[in-house]
Amino acid sequence: MTGTDTGVGKTAIAAALAAWCRAQGLDVGVMKPIATGLRRAGRGWINDDARRLRAASGSRAAEALITPVAFREPLAPAVAAQRAGRRVSMRAILAAYHVLQRRHRLLIVEGIGGALVPLNDRDTVADLARRLRLPAIIVSRAGLGAINHTLLSVEALRRRRVRIAGIILNAESQGAAASLAGRTNPVALRRLLRVPILGPVPFSPRQAARPDAAWLEQSLGRDALRRLLSGAAED
Ligand SMILES: Nc1ncnc2c1ncn2[C@@H]1O[C@H](COP(=O)(O)OP(=O)(O)OP(=O)(O)O)[C@@H](O)[C@H]1O
Ligand SMILES: [Mg+2]
Repeated sequence: MTGTDTGVGKTAIAAALAAWCRAQGLDVGVMKPIATGLRRAGRGWINDDARRLRAASGSRAAEALITPVAFREPLAPAVAAQRAGRRVSMRAILAAYHVLQRRHRLLIVEGIGGALVPLNDRDTVADLARRLRLPAIIVSRAGLGAINHTLLSVEALRRRRVRIAGIILNAESQGAAASLAGRTNPVALRRLLRVPILGPVPFSPRQAARPDAAWLEQSLGRDALRRLLSGAAED
C-alpha cells in the first residue's frame, strides 16, 4: 500500500482493508516496515501507523516484527537514518517480512510517504516493493492534483518493475470528492491508465480514525474489493 504523498490516507485505507479482510474470515497480517516520526509515551516510543494496522487486523505479531526499522525524527528514512548515524537495513525488513508472510494468509504492507521516498543511498520505497515482489495499491487524493500525482507514482513504480494492482481515490479532506476534480478524476484516470481505479472513499473523520470494514465496503463495493485482493496476489 503506497500513496501519492504523505498524509493521503494509506493507513486509514490499509487499516480498513485489514478490518474488511478479517471480517471475511481471512487471516490477515500487517506491516509498516519502516516508520519515522515516533511519538513519545512514557519511557517508550509509539508508532501510530503500526498500532492502527495491528488493531484493525487483529494481528498478534510483536511490534518489532511489524516495524523492524524505526526512527524518531519525522523525516524520510534515508535522512532520519543518516542523522541517527544508522543505515536502513533491507536485510532486517526482508527477515521480518518472511516471518510474517509464513504466519498469515495475506499481508498488507504500508510503505512510507510515496514511491520514491529514499530509504538509503540506493533504495526507494518502490525498490523495497520490488525486492519483496509485492504489487502496489496506490492511495491517491480524490480532488485536484490527483491525476498528476497518480501518473507520477505509476511511472516511478513501473520503471522499477512494480506491478500496480489498483488505485484507490480517497477523500481525505472535506469536499474533495464533491469538487469538480473529484467528480471527473475517476473517469479521467480510467481513460489514462489500464488499472482498476476504485473510489472515491468518502470523507469521514470518524471512520478514518477508527477504521471500519463497512466504510470501505459501502464505498468501494464487495466485488471490487475481492477483485483488488486477487489482483494483488504476490507476483
Ligand atoms: N477518507 C477520510 N476521511 C476523513 N479523514 C481521513 C480520510 N482518509 C484519511 N483521513 C485522515 O487524514 C489523516 C492522514 O491519513 P493517514 O494517516 O491514513 O495518511 P498516510 O498516507 O498513512 O500518512 P503517512 O504518510 O503519515 O503514513 C489522518 O488523520 C486520517 O485519519
Ligand atoms: Mg500512514
